[in-house]
Amino acid sequence: MADLLVFAGGLELKNPMLAASGCFGYGLEADPVIPPSLFGGIVTKTITPAPRRGNPVPRLAETHAGMLNSIGLENVGLDAFLADKLPALEDVDSKIVVSVSAGSAGEFAEMAERLAEHARVDALELNLSCPNVAEHGRNFAADPAAVAAIGKAVRRVFARPMWIKLSPNVTDISEVARAAQDAGADAVTAINTLLGMDINIDSGKSPFARVTAGLSGPAILPVALAAVWRIAREGGIPTIGVGGASSAKGLLKFLAAGAEAVQLGTVLFSDPGAPQRILDDLATHLDAQGHTNLNSLREQWKEQA
Ligand code: SIN
Repeated sequence: MADLLVFAGGLELKNPMLAASGCFGYGLEADPVIPPSLFGGIVTKTITPAPRRGNPVPRLAETHAGMLNSIGLENVGLDAFLADKLPALEDVDSKIVVSVSAGSAGEFAEMAERLAEHARVDALELNLSCPNVAEHGRNFAADPAAVAAIGKAVRRVFARPMWIKLSPNVTDISEVARAAQDAGADAVTAINTLLGMDINIDSGKSPFARVTAGLSGPAILPVALAAVWRIAREGGIPTIGVGGASSAKGLLKFLAAGAEAVQLGTVLFSDPGAPQRILDDLATHLDAQGHTNLNSLREQWKEQA
């Protein structure tokens, strides 16, 4: 059987498949339907300095090829995460990447300093790109200067791998990735959801209290691939791909576009058998192509380029 081990964003992962933030709770909620140890890494639901109740319901809507969400960063807050959620992950055989969000560079750094005290935190993912908390989906990831300031503030206090999650709702995502690189990030995660909305034809209005929402799922895979490719072709900062992967084929497309690892998101809600199937199909694909590991496949792609 081919070895699926990868080095991604400063971490050694036993396989290139991670659970995306917001789609796998704090790591244990889907167990045993989806065992957390299947993943090379788990990115936990974004936490903020204080608990958040999130946006009013409804918060979800299905689309033809995906899902709209307007959760609004509901979470238990940093204290409860450290007291209850993180200790419960002690025996999980996956890397733990903690997703964080805050209102300023100073707040991000304060959170990072406290998280750095806990050895179970393998890496941080700075969520600078949630479209569901400010007017018109505004977020830090639309502003390279804000990305640089927050990244630098966290880098000063957190020595382990730091990933920065970027938004697709910008003109040039590679410019924002450069700001993350200048700040000392180990990787960027691309992409968060696309700004979207639904309309209820009886009311003529959006069902969401904040009107707009974030689109995820298979519909956004081509957008995510293009974003990863744009960042990767500059050869600067490593990329963790996310957005619409639901099969081994989707995961391989991200790796070929230049991602070092790939996060599964919406598929975890619709197809709980997907993670195990993806790992099996990935190994079968490598074996069938005569590769003993993923690097060997990457080398083949390079030679063909
Ligand atoms: C949310 O909590 O609204 C979604 C999180 C995100 O898109 O970053």
